[in-house]
Amino acid sequence: MGICLKGGTVVNADQSFKADVYCENGVIQAVGTSLDLPAGTEVIDVSGTYIMPGGLDPHTHMQLPSMGTVSSDDYFTGTAAAAAGGTTMIIDYVVPDKSAPMTPAYRTWREWAEKSAVDYSFHINVTAWSDSIAEEMARLTEEEGVNTYKFFLSAKGALMLPDEKLLPAFVHCRKIGAMPEVHAENGDVVDYMQKKLRAEGVTAPIGHPMSRPPIVEGEATNRAIMLASMAGCPIYIVHMSCREAVEAVRRAQANGIRVYGETVPGYLVVDDSVYASPDFTFAAAHVLSPPFRAKENQEPLWNALTAKTISVVATDHCPFKNEQKRAGKGDFTKIPNGCGTVENRLDILWHFGVNSKRLTPNEFVALTSANAARIFNIYPKKGYIGVGADADIVVWDPKKEKTISAKTHHMNVDANIFEGITVKGCAVYTLSHGRVVYNNGRLQAEKGAGRYVKRPKYTA
Ligand code: URP
Ligand code: ZN
Ligand code: ZN
Repeated sequence: MGICLKGGTVVNADQSFKADVYCENGVIQAVGTSLDLPAGTEVIDVSGTYIMPGGLDPHTHMQLPSMGTVSSDDYFTGTAAAAAGGTTMIIDYVVPDKSAPMTPAYRTWREWAEKSAVDYSFHINVTAWSDSIAEEMARLTEEEGVNTYKFFLSAKGALMLPDEKLLPAFVHCRKIGAMPEVHAENGDVVDYMQKKLRAEGVTAPIGHPMSRPPIVEGEATNRAIMLASMAGCPIYIVHMSCREAVEAVRRAQANGIRVYGETVPGYLVVDDSVYASPDFTFAAAHVLSPPFRAKENQEPLWNALTAKTISVVATDHCPFKNEQKRAGKGDFTKIPNGCGTVENRLDILWHFGVNSKRLTPNEFVALTSANAARIFNIYPKKGYIGVGADADIVVWDPKKEKTISAKTHHMNVDANIFEGITVKGCAVYTLSHGRVVYNNGRLQAEKGAGRYVKRPKYTA
């Protein structure tokens, strides 16, 4: 049986218009006024709201094994929370053990993700370089629809790859029709700074931002872009947090280099004063890499969204509970890295971006779904309200207010970095494949309803 959203305004990345949206068999079948609806259609009155493509969050880490523990949202709780916030697809990361083959890890992650409530896809981390890994990448791209691989310039002795391996790996990405993504922090410098700070007796969370200042990110961002440019392939910079990274991306784009930038809502509104708190639990809840920055970095990030230097707002959702963060009580380098934000990405970007007129509603759609769908090669199936697109939809009430809190959020984590912020504008309905999974505060997510989305290789 079909479902019709009636009386709203469709907002795509390129235009807005009044129309009803009819969905059946998981797909948008008609968009227009005075639609001829089949008998038995469920009609939802959405007058006064915006009908937008469901959010596509291309950077999450559900049940990620990391630093001796596992991130606290699994694929069901995390994707259900995503749906409560209007997001209908995630792209998560497969993390093979260092030097281990990729394919078994990919299979394991596919199995874990079967319980997802919304659609999902995978990037894969490349943490070693060899002929056999190159062969696996070619096969995974061709047969499994993995068109992006993440490389670390950070995490020395663990995930980091040196330049001599990054360059041939980037050349290989171009050859197989894939795109590299980078975590851009200089791992040698971070390692040096961590050792120095510990020798000086710094153990508290404040050591985390001290060991990885913005220049560490700016240098690595520039280096990764230059290597990709030498390799002749486009590159995607994940979780950009500071002015130095924005400047590196902007400079490269101005020189005709194809580089895509991503940031996350936390970097736009949370600053590094959180680490000065004497309360370990509070400060540790904010430990992620790159860290939150001094406030003066926020304006360059917002400007980069307006200027389209940064084209995606993701989350890097990677929650750890307070008890897990306590592993780093006497040593800031042992605090599991990451925060849970998958549910609040749209709330924060709308409230601080659209309500302040920094962004138009169309730009909001571009940043939260359409651009990622294009960049990761699944547009217009995702990121678009139009006939033939998947019926992944968020109905957004720009007048509705809510106060964000760990007490009421759906994420399986006991802290929220946006705690106490009252946002104006939030999801009232979320549809995944035409099924209502969130309805005015009622989460109706179904375990296992999400599907794996193959992303075709890049051909030009
Ligand atoms: O601190 C972070 N960002 N944790 C998640 C893993 C990553 O590097 O994206
Ligand atoms: Zn990263
Ligand atoms: Zn991440």
